[in-house]
Amino acid sequence: MAVIVRKFATLKREVKSKGFFRMAKIYADRLAVFTLSQIYKFPASWHPPTSMRQYRITVAGIVNSLKPDVVCEVGCGLCSILSRVNSPNRYGYDIDSGVIRAARLLRSSALKLQVGGLSAVALKHIDVLILVNWIHEVSPRDLEMELSRLLPITRYLVLDAIDADNSYGYRYKHDFSFLENRARRVSVTRHPGEGRSFQLFEVIR
Ligand SMILES: C[S@@+](CC[C@H](N)C(=O)[O-])C[C@H]1O[C@@H](n2cnc3c(N)ncnc32)[C@H](O)[C@@H]1O
Repeated sequence: MAVIVRKFATLKREVKSKGFFRMAKIYADRLAVFTLSQIYKFPASWHPPTSMRQYRITVAGIVNSLKPDVVCEVGCGLCSILSRVNSPNRYGYDIDSGVIRAARLLRSSALKLQVGGLSAVALKHIDVLILVNWIHEVSPRDLEMELSRLLPITRYLVLDAIDADNSYGYRYKHDFSFLENRARRVSVTRHPGEGRSFQLFEVIR
């Protein structure tokens, strides 16, 4: 009973802060993601809809401002970012084969999607490489090792950094010090309520 009362109070607070129609959209979108996750066997909790987590619109804005010809997102999930990117060549990689199959169903066939991580990327040139909302699971050393191979073919990187005072319990809070002398930080963008920043780096030639 106490749980139901608490959940109802949370819902009431959310409707008050976000508005009824946005909350209705969030619930409908969550149901759609949940249904897909049951069919394609991927964890729904990793893929909250964009109506709920709007940072993807901010990230796509950063990428679009560069007018890129080739964009690659590793850890693309359901392609909520990639589908908002304006570029003739969009490549998405994810280690979860279920989520890639669901993304193929959801998104335009113009997105070239493949199962795999950074080591699977076999492109000759990338204008913008996006790694967002999963690198907090990877140590700086492993991230550096995996990224090193792609730096020579990449112009810009978009990475997310969990705030030092974020208490959510993320494994790694990157400061990207391993990019020193290899890439320069161009901008740091925040999205309300995310507890992280979205950082644009330009690779030094
Ligand atoms: C929270 S989702 C974020 C999806 C997308 N980047 C976004 O922000 O909307 C994280 C995704 O990263 C994928 N992922 C986790 N570790 C990965 C790795 N080492 N290489 C590629 N994808 C990975 C997961 O399977 C999942 O689909």
